[in-house]
Formats: sequence, C-alpha cells, structure tokens
Amino acid sequence: MSTRAGYFASMGSHNAFIPKPLPPDPPIDLSKGLVDLMADASASLGVLEGIAKVIPNPEYFIMMYTKKEALLSSQIEGTEATFVDLLASERRNRALVRYEMREIFNYIEALQYGLQRVMEIPFSLRLLREIHEILLDDVRGGQRSPGEFRTGQNFLASPDHAQDISKAVFVPPPIQEMRNALYDLESYYHQGEEHPLLMCALIHAQFETIHPFWDGNGRIGRLLITFFLRERGILTKPLLYMSYYFKKHRQAYYDSLTRIRREGDWEGWLKFFLAGVEEVSQQATNTADALINLEKTDRARMQALRNSSNMVALHQFMLAKPVFEAREVAEQLDVASPTANTLVNVLAHEGIISDITGRQRGRIWAYSDLLDILSEGTKEPPA
Ligand SMILES: Nc1ncnc2c1ncn2[C@@H]1O[C@H](COP(=O)(O)OP(=O)(O)O)[C@@H](O)[C@H]1O
Ligand SMILES: [Mg+2]
Repeated sequence: MSTRAGYFASMGSHNAFIPKPLPPDPPIDLSKGLVDLMADASASLGVLEGIAKVIPNPEYFIMMYTKKEALLSSQIEGTEATFVDLLASERRNRALVRYEMREIFNYIEALQYGLQRVMEIPFSLRLLREIHEILLDDVRGGQRSPGEFRTGQNFLASPDHAQDISKAVFVPPPIQEMRNALYDLESYYHQGEEHPLLMCALIHAQFETIHPFWDGNGRIGRLLITFFLRERGILTKPLLYMSYYFKKHRQAYYDSLTRIRREGDWEGWLKFFLAGVEEVSQQATNTADALINLEKTDRARMQALRNSSNMVALHQFMLAKPVFEAREVAEQLDVASPTANTLVNVLAHEGIISDITGRQRGRIWAYSDLLDILSEGTKEPPA
C-alpha cells in the first residue's frame, strides 16, 4: 500500500478511495524508461497527424475513424455491435434502432460536440456534464441521470456481486470528496505542467478513479483523452482510437488503474498508456496506407470493368458510404435505376461488393474489402 495517489477511507461496510490531486507527488519518475516511450509515442503521433494531410479524402477518413473509436469504446464494457451493424443502422430511423446502437451514435455526437467546444471555451466540469448528457441521451432510461454527477455512492463490482458494496472491486470517493477531486482535476487540466501526453494519461486515470457519474465513466474518460489532445494541438483530428488498445488489453488496463491507487504506481500506468499511443498511432497509419492502396487498386479494377464516369462516381460514393442500396446509387449518380442496378450487378459479380441481407429485394450492399480494413479490432471480444 502506498498513499502517493490517495488513501482508502473506511466507511464501515467498505473502503472508499479518496484521491490526492494531480500531479503525483513525488513527481513522475521519468528515468524508468518513460522518456524513450514518450519520444516513440510522440513520433508515431506526428506521423499520424501528417497522414491526415496527405490522404485523398480526409473528411471521410476522419468520419470512419470516429465511428471506429465510438464502436470500440462502447465495446469495452460489453456493447455488442459490429462495424457493419453500425453502418447499416445509420440508415434506419433512430427510433427503430436498438438502444446499444443509439449509445454508439450518441458517442459519435458527443465526440464531435466536445471537439468543437474545447476550441471555443475553456474545458470545464460543465462541459463534461454536457457531453455526458449527449452520451446518455434517450438510451436505456433508468437511473443513469444524463448530464448530472452522481448524488450517491457508486462502486465497481464483478457481475456476481453487482449489488454488494462490501464485495466491490473498487469504491470511488464519496460525494463531497468526489466534488473536491473534480475541482482539482479541472484546475490540473488547465495548469498542469507535465508533457501533454503524460497529462492526458494522468487525467484519464484520475477521472476513472473519481468515477463521478452513475454510468458512462469509461466512455467519458476516454473522450477526455481526445479532447485534451485536440485542445493542446497534439492531434488536431480524432484519429487516435485508444479504445482499440484498451479493449485489446482490457485486463491490463484495469490492473494498471488499480495499481495507481494501491501502490501509487503512476509510472506503470504511463508506460502502459504510452505504449498504447504508439501502437494505436502505427495501427491508424497502417490503416490509412491500406485505405489509400485499396482506393488506387479498386479504381483501376472498376474502370477495367467499365470505363465510364459513372463507375468512377460510384467508387467515390462507395468509399464514403461502404454500406448502401442500389436506389441510393441511382440518386447519388443521378441515373435511372436500371443503370444503377447494372453497375451494382457488375460489382457484385466481380465480388467487390456483397449483399448483407440475403434477400432478393431491397438488398443492402457492403464494400467488403474496405469494411475489412476499417473493422480491424472490432470483431474480437474484449480481453
Ligand atoms: N479497477 C478499475 N479502476 C478504475 N476504473 C476502472 C476499473 N475498472 C474499470 N474501470 C473504468 O470504469 C469503466 C466502466 O465504468 P462505467 O461508468 O460503466 O463506464 P461505461 O458505461 O462508459 O462503460 C471502464 O471502462 C474503465 O474505464
Ligand atoms: Mg456502464
């Protein structure tokens, strides 16, 4: 046990953790390999930041990454949905979409809203609540209090002991201490002097320790990373999907958070986090390369099938909307439906697109190779 990060206070049936304000004291020990990790993570992030400037259609690319981060972040705590589900659901009336899907749409909205807001006004607890309100808007109902900090004691427990605080894995601070810790976190966000890459990691961990909402703490905490990096100009577009890494190493993610509180092991958490920044940056860069290649090869492939401006336009459309119907092609290209159908059939025959409905009518087509690239890491269950 160490009290470097805070202390456990006995509350009778349980011990609640009261965090100390950031930065850690004694300060982060950079000598233990952290300097090298920081250099590597920064370099990979720099490459990723550069990529956004050279890819052919950055808006589309960013949108896909945003969806991917939303999906992965929601999957960490068990939301079951695939990338294709997500793209297919976007096509439906929101009211008809199952709540898990709605949470993912909300996440995308919260991400976009927050990215814009942090450039307009200083980050604040109020902004945090606004983002939470968007995230939990109109989802499962119940007592999740969208937009409000919790008003009672919460705890993290295994599913078997979900109701029993004495068996909790972790009990966050009681309300008064929670409020103090939130104010301290807000000040640190503005006044911290550590390197921004370290700061966003410290802020995320501290936020998870405070656990100030009834639900959505994991996702809000992960959104905070993106907002912070944006505001500090480290990554101007949301291309870093840390959730990919947290999901893949979920147990290590939770264990590193636990070790901060029990052992004061901030350095261990920072190492885990920075290794993730590097891994995810490289992964995102590889994805970008794969997308650029696919665009090139498939443009040639499709033109070989039919050298027409319609085919070129269809390819552009598919890149932006890899799940689509023939009637949308007709609309988008402004051609008659038989023409659209012919184009679609040519691609289906060639295996470039495939039907995901199994129906004869109202088929929905998926641009499979593109979706395979984008959905990497979204198919496996969390570790
Ligand atoms: N041992 C732990 N210590 C601190 N935070 C944890 C621990 N285990 C899990 N978490 C965090 O709590 C989150 C789950 O809390 P929850 O409020 O249900 O968030 P969400 O609904 O967004 O998944 C996890 O995603 C993780 O970020
Ligand atoms: Mg939850």
